[in-house]
Amino acid sequence: MKVFLDSANLEEIEACLARGFISGITTNPSLLKKEPKTDFVKHIKKIANLCRKYKRLVPLSVEVFTAHPNKMVVQAVDLMEKINYENLNIKIPMGWDELGVINELAQKGIKVNCTCLFTEAQCMIAANAGAKYVSLFMNRMKDVGIEPTSVIADARALLDDSNTDAEIIVGSIRHERDIIEAQLAGAHIVTSPTEYFRRMTVHPQTIKSVAGFLKDFEDWLK
Ligand code: E4P
Repeated sequence: MKVFLDSANLEEIEACLARGFISGITTNPSLLKKEPKTDFVKHIKKIANLCRKYKRLVPLSVEVFTAHPNKMVVQAVDLMEKINYENLNIKIPMGWDELGVINELAQKGIKVNCTCLFTEAQCMIAANAGAKYVSLFMNRMKDVGIEPTSVIADARALLDDSNTDAEIIVGSIRHERDIIEAQLAGAHIVTSPTEYFRRMTVHPQTIKSVAGFLKDFEDWLK
């Protein structure tokens, strides 16, 4: 029942690290595009330094930005060296040639998060190639008529029956209920934007109860 933060925003990352409930951070090129333009490595180093500041050396996923498998390996090694964070994970998108990249990086001891997955078969094959994380995209599945919870449940059954230690990360979250549904379906981890975590903390009955207790205490003191 672990949750990761899906964001490249420094304020959001700091707010979640300070609250202690996240066990990891995932980024992707589209999330970076939402941030002010800057040097990629410098920005990720700032995220890494926030993790150090809060003494939470959590897994931090960054994605390669090339479509060429050979360049992916070079980029991944370069990012590992330049970012130099104790728990950096490299996101590699799924594909036939990309399996070779996952295998090569795993052989070098680099933790791979295989991303853009839509089927249990993709999860199984990526895990067998050496991916530490397999990332299923919940609402992008719904966008094309795939029912995500059965894919998540089947992927979990396949991984539980494998000789790998791969974990399922479910991303592409668009409602706080998705987080619970994905976990109940079998996700090891759900990665979500901050707003859904924040909404999970709020309930009208909680607000009413807290206000009632404070009021009763004030009345008692009168
Ligand atoms: C997961 O690793 C991805 O970063 C992300 O969750 C994709 O979600 P989106 O469909 O909201 O872009």
